[in-house]
Amino acid sequence: MSSEEGLSSAISDWLFSNSWWLLLPFIMLLVVAAFIVAFVLLLYMISPLISPKPLKLKGAHVVVTGGSSGIGKCIAIECYKQGAFITLVARDENKLIQAKKEVEKFAINDKQVVLCISVDVSKDYSQVESVIKQAQEKLGPVDMLVNCAGMSVSGKFEEVDVKRFQSLMEVNYLGSVYPTRAVITTMKERRMGRVVFISSQAGQLGLFGYTAYSSSKFALRGLAEALQMEVKPYNVYVTVAYPPDTDTPCLTEENKTKPLETKLISETSGVCQPEHVAKVVVRDAVQGNFSSSIGPDGYMLSALTCGMSPVTSITEGLQQIVTMGLFRTIALFYLGSFDSIIRRCMIQREQSKASDKRE
Ligand SMILES: NC(=O)c1ccc[n+]([C@@H]2O[C@H](COP(=O)([O-])OP(=O)(O)OC[C@H]3O[C@@H](n4cnc5c(N)ncnc54)[C@H](OP(=O)(O)O)[C@@H]3O)[C@@H](O)[C@H]2O)c1
Repeated sequence: MSSEEGLSSAISDWLFSNSWWLLLPFIMLLVVAAFIVAFVLLLYMISPLISPKPLKLKGAHVVVTGGSSGIGKCIAIECYKQGAFITLVARDENKLIQAKKEVEKFAINDKQVVLCISVDVSKDYSQVESVIKQAQEKLGPVDMLVNCAGMSVSGKFEEVDVKRFQSLMEVNYLGSVYPTRAVITTMKERRMGRVVFISSQAGQLGLFGYTAYSSSKFALRGLAEALQMEVKPYNVYVTVAYPPDTDTPCLTEENKTKPLETKLISETSGVCQPEHVAKVVVRDAVQGNFSSSIGPDGYMLSALTCGMSPVTSITEGLQQIVTMGLFRTIALFYLGSFDSIIRRCMIQREQSKASDKRE
C-alpha cells in the first residue's frame, strides 16, 4: 500500500468511526420536536383545568331579550330543555304570549316557569332596570343574560336613511348595554354569571350593504372585550356570538331591501336554522367561551379576527396561532371574489343605464 492510499484509508476509517457526529444536528432536531410535541400535549391536557367551570342551566334563571322570535326564541327553548327558568323580553305582547306557549312545550319538570316582559330595551335605562328587577324578584337573580333583541337593515351607504344608523345603534348596541348594566352588579356580587351578546358575522367583517348594521354589531365586540376584562376576576364570563344568515323573520325582512351585491356575497355561505344557532350559542355560553361561531366559515372568521380578544382555553389559543396564516390566505381569495362580484354588478348596472338612455 502506498503512503497516499494509507492516508485516505485512515481518513475514511476516522470518518466512519466518528460519523455519528454528522447525525448530531438531526438528533437535536428530533429532541426539540419531541419536547414541543410533549409541551403541546401537556397544554392540551391541562387546558380544561384552567377553563371556566361550566354553568349549570338546571334551575338557573335565563333572561333572553328578543326572546319572542327567531334566534332568541330558540335560545330560550334550548335553555328550557336543560331545566332553566326563562324570562322572555320583547315589545309585542301577543308575540311574547305565543312564544311563551311554544317554550313551555319543552318543560322537563313541572317547577319550570316562563315569564314575559314587554319593554323596549333600547329607549330608557331606568325602565329596563326596573323590569329586570321585577323578573329577579319573581325568578331569582339572573344567572345568564342573552342580549338577542336586534334588527338589521341593508342597503348602500348613501341610500340608507340616516335615521336608521341611529336606530340600529340604539337597538343593537344600547339595547344590549342596558340589560347588561341591569344585571352585572348582582352577577359580580354572586361571583357567577354569563352575559351573551348576539352579534353577527357582519360584526366580524364589513360587507357591502351593511354599513349601518355592521357598525352596530362591531360595537358589541368592543363592549364585550372591555367588559370581559372587568368581570373575569368575579367569575363572570362574556360570550359574543357571530351567527351567519339564519332563517328568521328578521332575515326575511332584510332580504326585501338587500342590494344584489349583498345577496350574491351572502350566497357564498348558506342559511342556518335558528335551532342549530341556538344550540351552539348556549353550549359556548355555558362553557364560558368568549367567541361563539357557527360552521367552518364562522370558525375561520373567529380565528382570523381574534386579535386581542380573550381566550378561554389553551387549546383555543394554540388553534388560533397555528391556523392564522392559512386562514388569512383563504380570506384573501374570498375578498378577491367579493371585489369581483361588486365590480361585475357595477358594470352591469352602468351598461343597463347606458342602454336605457339610448332608448
Ligand atoms: N337572522 C339572521 O340572519 C341573523 C344573523 C346574525 C345575527 N342576527 C342577530 O340575531 C338577533 C335576533 O335576530 P332574529 O333573526 O332572531 O330576529 P327576529 O326573529 O326578528 O327577532 C328579533 C327579536 O328582537 C325583539 N326586539 C326587536 N327590537 C326590540 C327592542 N327595541 N326592544 C325589545 N325587543 C326587541 C323582537 O320582538 P319585538 O319586535 O316584539 O320587540 C324579536 O323578539 C338580532 O340581534 C340579529 O341582528 C340575526
